[in-house]
Amino acid sequence: MTRLFSLALLFFSTLLLTSCGTSLRSESEIPDFNRYYADILATGSMKKPVDYHKEVKPLLEKRCVVCHGCYDAPCQLKLSSYEGLTRGGSKHEVYDSTRLVTAHVTRLFIDAHTTAEWRKKEFHSVLNEAEASPEANLEESLVASMLALKQANPLPQGERLLKGFDLALDRKQQCSTIDEFSSFASKKPLWGMPYGLPGLSQEEYDTLMRWLAQGAQGDDRIVLSPGQRAQVAQWEAFFNGSSNKEKLVTRYLYEHLFLADLYLEDDESRRWFNLVRSHTAPGEPIDIIDARRPFSNPGTAPFYYRLQPVRSATSLKNHLPMHWGGNGWRVGVNSLSIGIFMLTLFPLTSQRWRQIHLRYFRRYRCRAVTVFYSTMPVSL
Ligand code: HEC
Repeated sequence: MTRLFSLALLFFSTLLLTSCGTSLRSESEIPDFNRYYADILATGSMKKPVDYHKEVKPLLEKRCVVCHGCYDAPCQLKLSSYEGLTRGGSKHEVYDSTRLVTAHVTRLFIDAHTTAEWRKKEFHSVLNEAEASPEANLEESLVASMLALKQANPLPQGERLLKGFDLALDRKQQCSTIDEFSSFASKKPLWGMPYGLPGLSQEEYDTLMRWLAQGAQGDDRIVLSPGQRAQVAQWEAFFNGSSNKEKLVTRYLYEHLFLADLYLEDDESRRWFNLVRSHTAPGEPIDIIDARRPFSNPGTAPFYYRLQPVRSATSLKNHLPMHWGGNGWRVGVNSLSIGIFMLTLFPLTSQRWRQIHLRYFRRYRCRAVTVFYSTMPVSL
């Protein structure tokens, strides 16, 4: 009888302990971030300037861009470029199947160009935009808060992901602003960044935090070499020919390749370019036409086709590389023109025709085009 009693006691006390453990994890106190911030501000290397291009960008690319790199990134926060960081996050979802009216497009580098313009489009800041001081630069930054939250509540090492992490594509997002952060942190203490993954190493964390405290300066500058500039000028002259035939060919090229990341002949640096439509002529800074679709009326005349260097980090999810130049390019253009001609004659209404087109494009290694066609519905 006594044995039975002690067994029951053991059972209930284990139950009690387990439930305490769970509640501790899910309802932990909001951590005192000031202590974490004070540690950072007190480090000896705080005064040593952190370089965005050399130290911060590679880190964001290694630990954040895998999730924060696409158009529909969580909270639309794209960390693949500095402009994405300064644009910040949004509570609006990019893909909302329940909407009844046209969605506003929010393509980075296209639909707005200054922080003020993004704020009008209801994007909230993730960096400090209030008065600057090392303390405020951390306290008012959502990035710093998310990193400190992870630091305060690291995931247990070597265990399976705890319950409470929603990884579904259509998960409900919180996307709290900095003012809503304490409520977010008390409800979801384990949701610091990187989400559901091991935290940053101490060194990575220190680097990011010091950069934030120092004012989070950076830019997306790209300096082309004289060789690259010459090749770009040559191609832009080709794209902007004045005859109707040249205009038609470039239009078709653009409508097929607007998603491709093009790279030039003999370019060791592997700089990527997008073919875009611009209000401004070759030689002037590009002023991109923000039409909704590549075949939408540009709404301005004249307009120009330009090669724009890609400023964001490339990620496998949205990278369609295509060689641009030399023999490969010439074969590509010829095959493309013939392909387009075939397209106009035979609409892709049957599987058979689609296969013929695919075989044709694959033969000439027009990879971007192949991908484009592979993803097309069978009947257009
Ligand atoms: C595994 C995917 C993943 C990774 C990796 C990741 N995040 Fe996130 N991030 C998310 C999700 C999901 C959310 C949305 C959470 C929510 O529901 O509010 C988010 C939200 C954020 C927010 C809040 C945005 C807002 O508007 O409220 C910030 C800031 C952020 N992440 C920064 C980072 C940083 C910095 C890194 C890299 C150190 C990182 N994230 C890595 C998935 C990720």
